[in-house]
Amino acid sequence: MSANLETVVVLAAGEGTRMKSATPKVLHEVAGRSLVGHVLNAVSALAPKQVRVVVGAGREAVEEHLREVAPNVTTVFQERRGGTGHATQLALAGTDISGTILILAGDTPMLTGESLKQLLATHHEGGFTASVLTAEHPDPTGYGRIVRGDDGSLLRIVEERDADDFVKEIYEVNSGVYAFDAKKLAGAIGKLTNDNSQGELYLTDVIEILRNEGGTIAAALIEDFIEILGVNDRVQLAESAALLRDRINEGFMRAGVTIVDPTTTWIDATAEIANDVTIFPGTAILGSSKIATGAVIGPRTTLESCKVFEGANIVESNCFEATIGASANVGPYSYLRKGTVLGTGAKAGAFVEIKNAKVGDGSKVPHLSYVGDATIGEGSNIGAATIFVNYDGIDKHHTTIGDHVRIGSDSMLVAPVSIGDGAYTAAGSVITEDVPAGAMGVARGKQRNVLGWVMRKRSGTKSAIAAEAAEKRDEKKG
Ligand code: UD1
Ligand code: CA
Repeated sequence: MSANLETVVVLAAGEGTRMKSATPKVLHEVAGRSLVGHVLNAVSALAPKQVRVVVGAGREAVEEHLREVAPNVTTVFQERRGGTGHATQLALAGTDISGTILILAGDTPMLTGESLKQLLATHHEGGFTASVLTAEHPDPTGYGRIVRGDDGSLLRIVEERDADDFVKEIYEVNSGVYAFDAKKLAGAIGKLTNDNSQGELYLTDVIEILRNEGGTIAAALIEDFIEILGVNDRVQLAESAALLRDRINEGFMRAGVTIVDPTTTWIDATAEIANDVTIFPGTAILGSSKIATGAVIGPRTTLESCKVFEGANIVESNCFEATIGASANVGPYSYLRKGTVLGTGAKAGAFVEIKNAKVGDGSKVPHLSYVGDATIGEGSNIGAATIFVNYDGIDKHHTTIGDHVRIGSDSMLVAPVSIGDGAYTAAGSVITEDVPAGAMGVARGKQRNVLGWVMRKRSGTKSAIAAEAAEKRDEKKG
């Protein structure tokens, strides 16, 4: 069906004035992908021979982004905004394109490859000169309107700013997605004039030109208008983000993922989640995150580009580029940063921060600790409020902890340092030297009690009265 598809042109040079942003419009993100990234993703379903993206506003940033997400596309530079028709002229200039060309905007993130295929099917089956994807929009304000003749055929497209009251009443709008006979488009595109309210060359005007030259035009009406929503400002950005969220969540729920509250669960288009995962409210699963079956995530948890293995449980936590082993437990209030690897059945408990550290199978960091730049073996326990002192003010250093180690609460492990298999550290120790396997490392002041100090120095206070009463009781007991 798309065998005939030679070229796709994505128009992405506009200023995006209405976004009021230093970031080029097509680089704004929804569901973890740039607007233009979504469009290119839909286009990739067609396997076109070549994709050209017209860039202009924020050219460097857009080109850099494209090199990252779509290295096979070529770019065409539109130096000054001359309208969608002008952008198309530049995309066609100096090349000899035949077959079918698909043209679409870079700001319609909801479009699916499926709808693009349908447009091409209509176009090819009817042998049309041009085919326009259209939709009935409940609020058509701002869109070009589809003006049909008495026989229902497409006469022309009229932009909102150039529309009279009669045309403004039309609910069928132009999606900005078109299939053309490339040679005929190339012949007609030079005939555009900027005789309109914006003084631009409108690609939409080429429809009437082709029609007047005897070309046949199809208007392919799409069922779900949501697909063609364009993003021109931050309100539409948020709307399309919410719609994409709903679409993504529905897809996962149909695939067997329990999403307790889909309205507060945000999953990027790039995340993978297996069936029988449960997601509690207020949770975001972002980037290239991959969640294995049986995992329970949330409430109020953010995972960005994390790998979560079978049956892991993550509560009220923030994790970035972390690996969380099978049946591991995280949270509440854990902060797992880049390079954290929790083994099978490992634990990062309440108020624990971990960075660039491997916590071996069954090892636990249950409470109030910082673990940075470390390797912890299997079955070890890191006592509450332990700090891995990894930074000397200039360099970061590594801590190595063996298997079945017991780090006493409130230990400072001053890196570089290593604790051998089966070793202990005494609570409250500042460990600056290696502790051999099986040893107990003690590094703290010895306790001494100054008897009677409170009665002498704080007489009359509640503490002193209580202490005196206790002394009397002890005397009576003899
Ligand atoms: C355009 C259509 C409108 C349609 C709507 C669908 C025209 C004249 N109008 O309007 O009929 O209903 O899309 O969303 O085509 N661009 C360039 N160079 C330019 C101008 C624009 O590359 O000189 C790019 C923009 O980056 C954008 C796309 O073309 O991705 C559409 O431009 P935009 O200004 O958003 O057009 P709309 O007003 O939305
Ligand atoms: Ca637009």
